[in-house]
Amino acid sequence: MKQVSLFLITLNALFISCSTPSRDSAFIDNLMSRMTLEEKIGQLNLPSGGDIQTGTVFGAELDSLILEGKIGGFFNVKGVDEISRLQHLAVERGPHGIPLLVGADVIHGYETIFPIPLALSCSWDTTAIERMAQISAMEATADGINWNFSPMVDICRDPRWGRIAEGSGEDPYLGSMMAVAYVKGYQGEDLSADSTLLACVKHFALYGAAEGGRDYRPVDMSDVTMYNYYLPPFKAAVEAGCASLMTSFNLINGTHATADGKLINGLLRTGWHFNGLVVSDYNSFPDIAAMGTSKIEDAATLALEAGTDMDMVSGLYLKNLKNAVDKGLISEKIIDKACRRVLEAKQRLGLFDNPYQYCNPDRAKTGIFNTENRQAAREIAAETFVLLKNDNHVLPLRKTDKIAVIGPLADAANNMVGCWSMHAQTDKHNSLLEALKGAVGADGRILYARGCNIYDDETMQLNATGLRCIPFEHDTRQLEQEALYIAAKADVIVAAMGESSDMSGESASRADISIPAPQRRLLEKLKETGKPIVLLLFTGRPLVLDWESRNLDAILNVWFGGSEAADAISDVIFGTKIPQGKLTTSLPLHQGQIPIHYNRLPSSRPDPQAGVFNRYQSNYIDVDNEPLYPFGFGLSYTTFAYGKPTLSSTVLQENGCIDATVNVTNTGDYDGYEIVQLYIRDPVAQIARPIKELKDFARVFIRKGETATVHFSITDDKLKYYDANLKYDYEPGEFIVMIGSDSRNVQELSFRAE
Ligand code: NOJ
Repeated sequence: MKQVSLFLITLNALFISCSTPSRDSAFIDNLMSRMTLEEKIGQLNLPSGGDIQTGTVFGAELDSLILEGKIGGFFNVKGVDEISRLQHLAVERGPHGIPLLVGADVIHGYETIFPIPLALSCSWDTTAIERMAQISAMEATADGINWNFSPMVDICRDPRWGRIAEGSGEDPYLGSMMAVAYVKGYQGEDLSADSTLLACVKHFALYGAAEGGRDYRPVDMSDVTMYNYYLPPFKAAVEAGCASLMTSFNLINGTHATADGKLINGLLRTGWHFNGLVVSDYNSFPDIAAMGTSKIEDAATLALEAGTDMDMVSGLYLKNLKNAVDKGLISEKIIDKACRRVLEAKQRLGLFDNPYQYCNPDRAKTGIFNTENRQAAREIAAETFVLLKNDNHVLPLRKTDKIAVIGPLADAANNMVGCWSMHAQTDKHNSLLEALKGAVGADGRILYARGCNIYDDETMQLNATGLRCIPFEHDTRQLEQEALYIAAKADVIVAAMGESSDMSGESASRADISIPAPQRRLLEKLKETGKPIVLLLFTGRPLVLDWESRNLDAILNVWFGGSEAADAISDVIFGTKIPQGKLTTSLPLHQGQIPIHYNRLPSSRPDPQAGVFNRYQSNYIDVDNEPLYPFGFGLSYTTFAYGKPTLSSTVLQENGCIDATVNVTNTGDYDGYEIVQLYIRDPVAQIARPIKELKDFARVFIRKGETATVHFSITDDKLKYYDANLKYDYEPGEFIVMIGSDSRNVQELSFRAE
């Protein structure tokens, strides 16, 4: 038996090495010329190897699929040893020795966990994001992975949608910058290096606009909205060279995204010249039928014809494609095309030259969750926190203060990491309480009480906290008394409250996005003590914070900051680092304002002034129109004063450039970063344009007392948009430029574009 497999190994190795050079397209021609139709279909199959279930797992064993050539790759297998074993099986004993793609969701870190992407975007720091993506790629590749299902670039205007946590917020310009940074970080300069991997931009498309914020719901959207606001980050990722793309699993204008040929073959491949690999989302193929857009036996051919190359999990390509060719329903050529794209992805990774380059146990021993990576995660986490309020400079705290740390998230290390963190080592990093105790040292006075449950209802709490369970306490009276007792003894209260980490992410839509009732009640009681209260807000989405903003002294939105979040929070609340993040989504004043986004179109009646009700203007009878905290908003421990901005000219010639300049002075007591923002409005155009759109920003470090001069270049590409015929251009005329510290607080200028 041993002799036979040795012979097979040699034979397979021979096939690979005797053919044309492995980087050549002729290599793939040659390989494919030797593959049967079934083997080509096999390359299109991507089963899940693990038990992370968000649908029906295709049940077959990986080993036999590999030996029979019925698999192009797999995902959800953890550990270099097992992955290496499977890769050896494919190369040494699978037909033609074709190596496997090994996928994973390394969305915000592998074992070293970084903040959730929504938080990362609040740093507005593309360098930090590229660095986090690089580190994620280094860790994941050290453990055998060569394909990452990230970045998620879905624009979202509805914070009820739990997956808002996974994206970069509501803005297409910022979202595009972030998308590029992720792709660059994952793929590096050389995709065939052993520390880079294939990025996979997702979910194509419009998933973030799910109706009512309910996950998996359909989307009905005009082309103009789609092209101007939802598609730009995908296009940017494709232009940055992203090697693969995942379709989404929702209906778009009545067609399932995975079977939408207009979008995939049309826009993506023909329009944007994307020549990479397209994979479906988890078990999407049966959904095509379940949503009533095909019979189950036709779903696979519809997806293939639309341009989806790989089937994640359902197994329907394996089951139905051969039959479809035999019956003449599809041609073998279309299967060839898809198979070629899978093989090309492997070629780009260098897998044909060195199938085991991601299977190096030595790298796995030292390259994962090491001190250096964790330090980077701590630094980056501190950049993502957004200070929403800080009355009387209650923050930063003094280490000598007597601090009452209260709340169900204060000592919950497993709840710092956020939605995509299944590889996190939550027993190896600090909880907030541990970090604060460590920071103040033996003489410090940190008191702690859990105070309340996440929810009043046990079942709801267990559902909401899911994998990262927070146990339910039945004696809530005692919890509250403990909290009030320590609050009475303290100088300041730090409330660690908000959402548990499983309350956002996939299939975690919420209809009520306020802080759940028991936590709010406890805050109300704590307020009665008269002690200053700092809310450390853990959340995966924007929450409605009306009461909190009126009643608490400080609010620091810390999101889910990853494995090093606790120490990063401690750095910021004790002032070693100063807050610098700014919101990338609007924070509503009231749930009824949703969907809410700053770049809205004008109404047929003007918006009234904030706080003024005016019948027959576009306002609610009962709530203001404005969000509580606008897009781009975030405070610092220091303050910045903006000078009057200027333009180098009031006329922008075709292909010309105007320099917009503003002086920003650090008028406070700390050195710090300010994120200076530039918005543009096109007041008269062929179709109505938003009241403002972010077109540039600068993240500048300014020492206290010093002034920085910030320059922006306004070129005509900042004026272009997709018109009713989807022509991308601008029309000459007047444009308004707005420069400021957030989307609300701006100074206006104008120029004419020729
Ligand atoms: C379903 C999710 O929608 C997608 O983002 C993820 O990459 C796949 N599952 C694989 O885990």
